[in-house]
Amino acid sequence: MFTFKRKKQDVKLAKIPNHIAIIMDGNGRWAKKRMKPRVFGHKAGMDALQEVTIAASDLGVKVLTVYAFSTENWSRPQDEVKFIMNLPVEFFDKYVPELHKNNVRIVVIGDKEGLPKPTLDALERARELTKHNSGLILNFALNYGGRAEITNAVKLIAQDVLDARLNPGDITEDLIAAYLMTDSLPYLYRDPDLIIRTSGEMRLSNFLPWQSAYSEFYFTEVLWPDFDREALLLAIEEFNHRHRRFGGV
Ligand code: FPP
Repeated sequence: MFTFKRKKQDVKLAKIPNHIAIIMDGNGRWAKKRMKPRVFGHKAGMDALQEVTIAASDLGVKVLTVYAFSTENWSRPQDEVKFIMNLPVEFFDKYVPELHKNNVRIVVIGDKEGLPKPTLDALERARELTKHNSGLILNFALNYGGRAEITNAVKLIAQDVLDARLNPGDITEDLIAAYLMTDSLPYLYRDPDLIIRTSGEMRLSNFLPWQSAYSEFYFTEVLWPDFDREALLLAIEEFNHRHRRFGGV
């Protein structure tokens, strides 16, 4: 049993999810409420991400996957896309040192092609700097789309069958999972135990459709920039009340 201090009372948690995945939604609305441009919300969203990552690391979470940019987000106004693409650069200078101190390892999933070079370079530097860290894995889903990920896996499998490296009979769920981008995560933690979406929206939006088959979902009205350690504890507390049966009884 893990006991954690919350502002009002202690919270007892029997289980900490190994893999938490978050759809960080509501940055734009958060900014609008403050009569600020949308990008102001993304900046505040980075602060929230830093707090939540360190809180998750303190709790012993193994993997935190965050949906930072989807393949559909390119349709946003160009200035906003440019701003979001520059966030990893700022993230590297301002936030990575503290994460590194906390033994956090940074990895990225998503289609790297199409990302601007400075964005890729900043992510690569973060990955390289933290690659020997043994603590929480912070997994950025950047230019990620779940259907594209599955489509790509099907293509690779088809090619391997064509080249006689694989028989159709060898295709199992485990084999398919090995062709997905989350294969780079530790085997036991590839699938999220808990998926959190902020800002009151109740959709998966093409986020980890294969990996979420048995995930628990937690939706909150809180806008992402306001999501903090307390909010994370609340989500995990709710997760502790769920009875996961994985299709059994
Ligand atoms: C969704 O809110 C948020 C995003 C599309 C961007 C999220 C990115 C971050 C929090 C920073 C990530 C950090 C790095 C280093 C990449 P929204 O704009 O859809 O909000 P709205 O629904 O209120 O308009």
